[in-house]
Amino acid sequence: MTTGDGFWAGKTVFVTGGASFIGSTLTDRLLGRDAKKVRIVDDLSSGHLDNIRQHLGTGKVDFLQADLREPGVTRAAMQGVDMDLHQAGPASNFFLDGLVFAEALKAKVRKVVFASSGCVYPNFLQSDTKKEVYLTEDLTKGPNDADNTYGWAKLMGEFTLQAYAKEHGMGTASCRYFTVYGPRGVENHAVIAMIARAFLGQNPFEVWGDGTQIRNWTYIEDIVEGTILAGEKISDGTAINLGTMERIRVIDCAKMVCELTGHQAEIKLRQDMPTGPLNRVADNSLAKKLLGWEPKVLFREGLQRTIDWLRSY
Ligand SMILES: NC(=O)c1ccc[n+]([C@@H]2O[C@H](COP(=O)([O-])OP(=O)(O)OC[C@H]3O[C@@H](n4cnc5c(N)ncnc54)[C@H](O)[C@@H]3O)[C@@H](O)[C@H]2O)c1
Repeated sequence: MTTGDGFWAGKTVFVTGGASFIGSTLTDRLLGRDAKKVRIVDDLSSGHLDNIRQHLGTGKVDFLQADLREPGVTRAAMQGVDMDLHQAGPASNFFLDGLVFAEALKAKVRKVVFASSGCVYPNFLQSDTKKEVYLTEDLTKGPNDADNTYGWAKLMGEFTLQAYAKEHGMGTASCRYFTVYGPRGVENHAVIAMIARAFLGQNPFEVWGDGTQIRNWTYIEDIVEGTILAGEKISDGTAINLGTMERIRVIDCAKMVCELTGHQAEIKLRQDMPTGPLNRVADNSLAKKLLGWEPKVLFREGLQRTIDWLRSY
């Protein structure tokens, strides 16, 4: 898949939270598409300087370690920005998102692309593992039952950006990411945690819940490609799913991790531990229609690449 020729060339792109797993990978790809400058503000609360170190001193990336919520920080950083790819986010980020969007509007930024989440979808649709449910974007029209404060914050962020597009004509788009994995991923995400436990030789190998929970883990390069395309092609605040339609049970993920790492262990189900939603998989047809995007990396392939990265890391 190729993106619009020259769209990013000469642009100054602000990646709020750009030292993160996804934000730093986006930064790499934007520079690969000839963005003039990527500006990053990150307080490194969960992001890592190592993710962007290769760009520091090249003149292509301006990095400021700061909290975007501190007075004046976001306003100053927004000056001269063409596009803001908003990745920064602690678990409950209503204030941070609102501030970034308001300052983008004041600074006349052409477009804001928001890192939203599959957590915006109603929990009550995701509780039965026997149903082959695929979540479509219209399911957030209400009634809403987002996943914890995090899901509500993402949903409110999307609604705010839709209002900004309508009322102020600012270009906006939201990308609903579904459980992203891949190189630079961190251990509070299931796939990376499982690989790390396999490397450490955990036996019995623990799986939370009864293992039948279903996820659509989506590879980082596909997520980044979709975000870049959304930046190019969506302006009216539309939210799109970026997720594969490959349905993977947690137990099968655990078995695949053991197989690909060569770790032989007995699986132990920890039914006392939390599982999150039982059945969460995206329908990605809107992204196909609007962006020409489809995920390219099947789970087994992405898992192998992630294992290779973590081994070398
Ligand atoms: N990883 C996933 O599976 C996933 C799924 C759905 C949505 N998302 C969203 O994608 C974005 C990127 O996620 P990620 O997984 O790469 O890592 P992340 O959630 O750790 O990224 C957030 C980044 O923002 C920075 N940050 C937090 N608060 C800040 C503040 N006040 N000022 C400046 N910087 C601040 C952190 O240091 C970090 O680099 C986040 O908004 C996240 O909610 C991620």
